[in-house]
Amino acid sequence: MNGPLILEGEACLAGARLFPPLRLTLQPGKWLTLLGPSGVGKTTLLRLIAGLPVAAEFRGQITGARPAALMAQDPGLLPWATVAQNITLGPRLRGTRPDQARLQAILDQTGLADHAQKRPAQLSGGQRQRAALARALMEDRPLFLLDEPFSALDIALRHRMQDLTASLLRDHMVLMISHDPAEAARLSDHIYVLTRAGLQQVSPPADDGRLRPRPLDGPDTRRCEAELIALLMAAT
Ligand SMILES: Nc1ncnc2c1ncn2[C@@H]1O[C@H](COP(=O)(O)OP(=O)(O)O)[C@@H](O)[C@H]1O
Ligand SMILES: [Mg+2]
Repeated sequence: MNGPLILEGEACLAGARLFPPLRLTLQPGKWLTLLGPSGVGKTTLLRLIAGLPVAAEFRGQITGARPAALMAQDPGLLPWATVAQNITLGPRLRGTRPDQARLQAILDQTGLADHAQKRPAQLSGGQRQRAALARALMEDRPLFLLDEPFSALDIALRHRMQDLTASLLRDHMVLMISHDPAEAARLSDHIYVLTRAGLQQVSPPADDGRLRPRPLDGPDTRRCEAELIALLMAAT
């Protein structure tokens, strides 16, 4: 499946409009970041694209849908299973043998190797979020849907996990939801802000498009962050 994925439509919640008619296009091999105030419908959009049920009533269509790896906003780890068992949940549910080399590599890369046999309750919030990220990264799907994947991480880990995710998903279609303008500026090929008025596109930092993640002090990065902050301030 090489074409774009397009969501077109509007949504209502309890008789009131959640978001007006909009069109969101995801391109193969491109990273799209969606920002916006809480409650505006970002997770709803992501779940619609994943083909999951939503509370809102959606009138519209999604074309070019494809199998997705989802990292939900809530880590959603199974409390009785170990970290390693949680990370390999996908293959185990499908009845296939988890790739042990891949599991070990992802445990190492996410800094969870020493925690592989622990249960989620024995982890910090940031460790739980990394376990959820690791579980999504274990999957090999054409589309990755990441709902605030780095929000609970300290700044150093956040940067490391951004670097890791960007390098592993270099050739994938990605939709990431974020509240962090710097993160959006670092990682994205396309940036949108969702407000009650609809979707607004913001140009990512101007560059040749090859360097991901971009350096923090890269050209045009501050302009992009400032534009996003101004839009987000105006929207709340
Ligand atoms: N399970 C649910 N039942 C009822 N309302 C919900 C449910 N999930 C989300 N909503 C409502 O839908 C709206 C959009 O939610 P969501 O898409 O999660 O927003 P965002 O991710 O932008 O913060 C919010 O007003 C929220 O309260
Ligand atoms: Mg959300």
